[in-house]
Amino acid sequence: MSIRFDEVHKSFGPKKRILQGVSFEVKTGEILFILGRSGVGKSVTLKHIVGVLKPDRGAVWVDGQDVTKLDELEMADIRRKCGMVFQHPALLDSLTVYENVSFGLRTPQYTQSLQRPLTEAEIRKIVLEKLSLVQLPSKVLERYPTEISYGMQKRVSLARTIAPGPDYLLFDEPTTGLDPITTNAVNELIFRLSRELKVTSIVVSHDMNCALKIADRILVLEGGNILFLGDVQETVRTKEPLIREFLAETLELLTPEERSRYGLGEKGAKK
Ligand SMILES: Nc1ncnc2c1ncn2[C@@H]1O[C@H](COP(=O)(O)OP(=O)(O)OP(=O)(O)O)[C@@H](O)[C@H]1O
Ligand SMILES: [Mg+2]
Repeated sequence: MSIRFDEVHKSFGPKKRILQGVSFEVKTGEILFILGRSGVGKSVTLKHIVGVLKPDRGAVWVDGQDVTKLDELEMADIRRKCGMVFQHPALLDSLTVYENVSFGLRTPQYTQSLQRPLTEAEIRKIVLEKLSLVQLPSKVLERYPTEISYGMQKRVSLARTIAPGPDYLLFDEPTTGLDPITTNAVNELIFRLSRELKVTSIVVSHDMNCALKIADRILVLEGGNILFLGDVQETVRTKEPLIREFLAETLELLTPEERSRYGLGEKGAKK
């Protein structure tokens, strides 16, 4: 069971050719980072998985189903399997944290998949469990999103996404605009959730530093296609100029431990 892109083409009008035959497969349980310049089609790629966009040509497979051929009703099942996490916390301000996190557990798609509605006690148990996974205290449950910090809102948003137990987590720029400490915390959270919940994650990002820290593989989009796809060690060693450019600053700031973990020699030493 996995996600696979098969020769996906997507244009917006005659001049905007965005994806031009993109093919890749996400391995079960891995964290795949998609990097690339602004406007290259990273978000467009994610949107194809949940059927928000349809390709002009090609297929997108999720768990053996070509989602480009599904109708809205069948798509609801795919969306249930795929938790989307947006750059900004997508919380409903008029609902408490508890109501926000439990939101997805009350939708018809979710209850139909269980073939019965959950009792309030069951919902509460799931909410508390997810809250603890994202390391939030239960005292925030009755607060409203505007009453908690931005970092906490991101965690609540993540708890809401994981509450219905998705098989895939799709992150679109989860750390853009965050301070370094919150960035580290969110990265650590993505890593831990992916491993503990055993979900398969795709993280769209600009941040090479995050990618090196938590990715299993890194995919770089450029000019409508995949310029590079490899693991972290392959990424730091590639001679591909655009990737060297993305890497330049990040490599400068690596600690000696990180350099050795990525198979790089000591800084300044001859290669
Ligand atoms: N629905 C749409 N209609 C028309 N053009 C679109 C649509 N969605 C995306 N595009 C265009 O497709 C291109 C790729 O957009 P996309 O949002 O995937 O970029 P991105 O790689 O995620 O960039 P960023 O890093 O800035 O988020 C952009 O030029 C964008 O304007
Ligand atoms: Mg984007």
